Amino acid sequence: MALTNAATIEHSATVKQRIAELVGEMTLEEKIGQMCQVDAGLDEVSATLADDIRAGKIGSVINQVDVGLVNEMQRIAVEETRLHIPLIIGRDVIHGFSVVMPIPLGQAASWNPGLVEACAKSAALEAAAHGVNWTFAPMLDISRDPRWGRIAESLGEDPYLTATLGVSMTRGFQGENFSEAGNIAACAKHFVGYGAAEGGRDYATTNIPENELRNIYLEPFRAVVEAGITTVMTSFSDIDGVPATGNEYLLRNVLREEWGYEGFVVSDWDSIGELETHGFAENKEQAAYEAVIAGVSMEMAGDAYTSSLPSLVEKGKLAIDVLDEAVTNILGIKFQLGLFDDPFSNPGIFAETEFEDALQVSKRAAIESTVLLKNDGVLPLARESLKKIAVIGPMADDPYEQLGTWIFDGNPELSVTGLQGICQAVAPGTEVAYCKAMETSRDKQADISEAMQIVESSDAVVLFLGEESILSGEAHCRADISLPGCQEALVKSIKAAGKPIIAVIMAGRPLTLTNILNDVDALLFAWHPGTMGGSAIAELIFGDAVPSGKLPVTFPRHVGQIPIYYNNKNSGKPPSEDKVIHIDEIEPKTPQTSLGMCVFHLDEGYKPLFPFGFGLSYTTFSYSNIECSNNEIRAGESVTISADITNSGSAVGTEIVQLYIKDLVGSVTRPVRELKGFRRVTLRPGQTERISFELDAGALSFYGRKQQRILEPGEFRAWIGGDSLATLETDFRLTS
Ligand code: NOJ
Repeated sequence: MALTNAATIEHSATVKQRIAELVGEMTLEEKIGQMCQVDAGLDEVSATLADDIRAGKIGSVINQVDVGLVNEMQRIAVEETRLHIPLIIGRDVIHGFSVVMPIPLGQAASWNPGLVEACAKSAALEAAAHGVNWTFAPMLDISRDPRWGRIAESLGEDPYLTATLGVSMTRGFQGENFSEAGNIAACAKHFVGYGAAEGGRDYATTNIPENELRNIYLEPFRAVVEAGITTVMTSFSDIDGVPATGNEYLLRNVLREEWGYEGFVVSDWDSIGELETHGFAENKEQAAYEAVIAGVSMEMAGDAYTSSLPSLVEKGKLAIDVLDEAVTNILGIKFQLGLFDDPFSNPGIFAETEFEDALQVSKRAAIESTVLLKNDGVLPLARESLKKIAVIGPMADDPYEQLGTWIFDGNPELSVTGLQGICQAVAPGTEVAYCKAMETSRDKQADISEAMQIVESSDAVVLFLGEESILSGEAHCRADISLPGCQEALVKSIKAAGKPIIAVIMAGRPLTLTNILNDVDALLFAWHPGTMGGSAIAELIFGDAVPSGKLPVTFPRHVGQIPIYYNNKNSGKPPSEDKVIHIDEIEPKTPQTSLGMCVFHLDEGYKPLFPFGFGLSYTTFSYSNIECSNNEIRAGESVTISADITNSGSAVGTEIVQLYIKDLVGSVTRPVRELKGFRRVTLRPGQTERISFELDAGALSFYGRKQQRILEPGEFRAWIGGDSLATLETDFRLTS
């Protein structure tokens, strides 16, 4: 997974010496200056800001994307400061810039590393043209709780998928060679465990046992560190009692000592000051001390470092070496980014061609991230047979709401909405009738009568439902993750007209769609699909494109099932069909121990609505002849697991073939399944291809009781199939 040497953190002897000399020349104030990032999102470079830059008090700015202003700040930094050190300019470029790609969770549903890389590359190029040279992505927080609003920004619930796509995103932002214009520094966030916020409430406490932390939550971070990511951001939350921003064990022992990370660590927004609020530090000074000792090199948008580091050093409480180390790491990345050679940005790198390319990438990503969850045969719609089509719903023609969270620089004027896409895609004689029915997705009342009039005179209905952008993202968590407002009632009213209903859901998280699933004939889950969402959806609806997306996260039937995820542990009483009982079937006065006795809910059973990895196509795929190349392997060897996949339907389609394994016995309990590989394959009807996955013995290792990576001999089961419930299995053995 590693990037080429050019992009890994390696400095030549000359650069190292140059950094050492610079650090040697710096005053205490200049050192602390490098460790400070300030919010500079104003429409001018104020006199105070200019003076602070000139005095060497600022190492980085965040939130300025006017390239003229950025270049002016850089000019001051390199021409008017004593040591001529350039600034590093940060911005949340999360899923696009003016051209918005699908939200990261949507991109993850494409299971397409190359495409995820292309999305990041395009975003980096446009951002760089605006003066940005550092983004705060990828977010690698494993998310098993769709109530948590930031699941939208994640790559889902699985460490392998998150690691693979996180590396692709990193590669897309950073490129192979940093010195090339258009490549920007990436930031792995939020280190670590942020996605496990209690109750799915953003910023809440997390409690993750170390074994789970290492086997699940840390893995994607380890992968991007190995791939040469340049920066890491700490999480807002506390983890097992120690806030992540003051967590020396995680930031020094794990990140630097175990993994050899050499980039720099940035706090989250004022998360150093918040150490006081956590009750982890008595005051700001102690907060600054805890963070810097723990290994946080730069403070984002706070004043704990500026206000307290000078006195801490002067009083002898803090060794200057600690600051020197932080500054060395920051300067290393500035050198690596080429900022010392050319700190200025050239808006010309994102011109007409690059803009057109970005739109194409955005459309392809929206097509590949959309997941077909249900199809009773109504899709694809036969264009020519439609006299009139009804387009209904609050998300049908809203250029802003389809863009999703984190779109500071997104331009809704570029959006192609679902309604526009359908209007462009229908046959010349087809009438498209539109009714928004609800002003926002949260409205408690819909204009049902107008909608019904249109529906009754149409041949098919496309219902655009979901959540507005503001209902997911940072701080925007929900306790009830069903369709908000009166959308379920709208579906039921429309159902009564008896017309074929295609529901297209745009949302920032999995929703509990249990109540409407039987009312619709087809269901496309488009996440927040970005700028080109409408074109993509129209192509899918009319069969110009065939759905291939697969869920990167489990969809619960009911919010009370959360957390529900595919790679759970077996427990001593695993659920099965024959054991569970429904609440309505319980006879009065039934003895307690005669019922159930397994891991389930009396009212919802144990199954999700849709499992991880699930997604339909306009064709079907069948799997057969699974085989292992050898029944036994040893450390250092590999096993090839193969199966035949056949397009058993009547359309050309792309399947994402998935490999899962289970370690049958472990010295710590092992997940019931773990994703270990996936591959995209496009097949014509009737075509069969043999797909092989080569699995190194190392991929079977895990963190054991002593929290060290171990390879334990024993039996393994492998499955190949189209989702995490794949049934085609084979066994092999790892011997000592
Ligand atoms: C807070 C968020 O948690 C983080 O992800 C983001 O990058 C920073 N603010 C900067 O906006």
